[in-house]
Amino acid sequence: MSRGRAVDPSLAARIADKSAKVGIIGLGYVGLPLACLFAERGFPVTGFDIDPKKIAQLNAGRSYIRHIPAARIRPLVKSGKLEASGKLADLRKMDAVVICVPTPLTKYREPDMRFIVATAEEVARTLRKGQLVVLESSTYPGTTTEVVKPILEKNGLKSGRDFHLAYSPEREDPGNEKFGTAAIPKVIGGDGRAALNLAKALYDGVVVRTVPVSSPETAEAIKLTENIFRAVNIAMVNEMKVIFDAMGIDVWEVIEAAKTKPFGFMPFYPGPGLGGHCIPIDPFYLTWKAREFGINTRFIELAGEINTLMPRYVMGRLAEALSTHAGRALKGAKILMLGLAYKKNVDDMRESPALTLIGMLEEAGARVDYHDPFIPRIKPSREHGHLTDRRSVALTPARLAAADAVLIVTDHDAIDYALVAKKAKLVVDTRNAMTRAKAKGRAKVVKA
Ligand SMILES: NC(=O)c1ccc[n+]([C@@H]2O[C@H](COP(=O)([O-])OP(=O)(O)OC[C@H]3O[C@@H](n4cnc5c(N)ncnc54)[C@H](O)[C@@H]3O)[C@@H](O)[C@H]2O)c1
Repeated sequence: MSRGRAVDPSLAARIADKSAKVGIIGLGYVGLPLACLFAERGFPVTGFDIDPKKIAQLNAGRSYIRHIPAARIRPLVKSGKLEASGKLADLRKMDAVVICVPTPLTKYREPDMRFIVATAEEVARTLRKGQLVVLESSTYPGTTTEVVKPILEKNGLKSGRDFHLAYSPEREDPGNEKFGTAAIPKVIGGDGRAALNLAKALYDGVVVRTVPVSSPETAEAIKLTENIFRAVNIAMVNEMKVIFDAMGIDVWEVIEAAKTKPFGFMPFYPGPGLGGHCIPIDPFYLTWKAREFGINTRFIELAGEINTLMPRYVMGRLAEALSTHAGRALKGAKILMLGLAYKKNVDDMRESPALTLIGMLEEAGARVDYHDPFIPRIKPSREHGHLTDRRSVALTPARLAAADAVLIVTDHDAIDYALVAKKAKLVVDTRNAMTRAKAKGRAKVVKA
């Protein structure tokens, strides 16, 4: 860390009295709640995005993310605290610029830095002295100083002297009612002390606690460590599930009892496979970077392998259950899938194992309908383009009764599990939803 240089006094003062203009780039699952939070805490906020539909909706006081209600956005827009814009040239007017753009993988499973590079180039175009730039996107150690910084410095301004650069990983858990953006401590690594102090002051104004660390690389490593921890532990319980299923032991019962141990155990839950924008993807950012150092990330690869196999395992259990309890093959069977989102109570279908499962089941000759109260229509995706525009069917007694099997992929609270138990013949449950809902009826329930 470079030493000695004082915090920019004028920006520090504007942050302290909350008159600093905050620009958030990328108004998705991460950027939108963050923009709302800064505005709620009194900062003037401009949200920037390249999607004109999102800008129009926000400026009309509407939301496009289910768990962020329009009632939260409307008063902020009305009071002028929050506005959305596609005019990236206006980044010049911002005091602090926070980058929350996507970090997916390419089709070769390598970091796809296009969004970060494009955004850094936009910021560089209007960068001026005294600005603070913070990257929040999940990424590999080195991105802030090796990728973003050189782009920002292209026009002659220097990080730590003319502008300030920091990394502070987003830890958003969409739909988590207990831990919204403000309640989650924020890790911050600065490119120099002044950047760290400014970024810390900025986030201290909006979140419960900030955790300064020694460098942007460390902060980047922390984010990946958190997500790898989840990926590896989920893989472990998925493996336990396969082993215990074969032994006739209910893995869910095992975890419920194991978690009564007050130390040394933390519950993770098995499922149909990983989904979402983070856990299936971020670990491979480290795998890629580790190669530069000649190191193989074996835990990450193994966890990826086990988690990726889960949809196939679930399909096998479903085929077995159909054969045992309905005397029929998967081919030609009518499957009603419950839940398409990658996790409960959200409207996010990115990387959802449900999509993989639909593809595999249909390839095996099954006929699949899905019901998801939050995903009325399947949005286009790179890997599952052929499913685009499929629509959620209504969850009716007749439809439940007509299905050869109901396959629970996502345990949304809004699903009427009592009705499922009453009307379905066979339920294959990847989330233990039927047991947790204490739903009892004629349906035979098989966990998978
Ligand atoms: N979704 C999560 O739960 C979550 C949690 C923690 C961290 N993250 C990380 O946060 C980052 C953002 O994820 P997200 O889920 O919010 O993504 P998202 O796709 O929901 O939103 C990203 C937004 O950025 C916009 N965008 C893309 N390129 C742009 C550009 N050049 N200029 C302006 N806007 C641009 C897109 O239009 C989109 O609205 C990723 O790095 C992700 O890994 C996500």
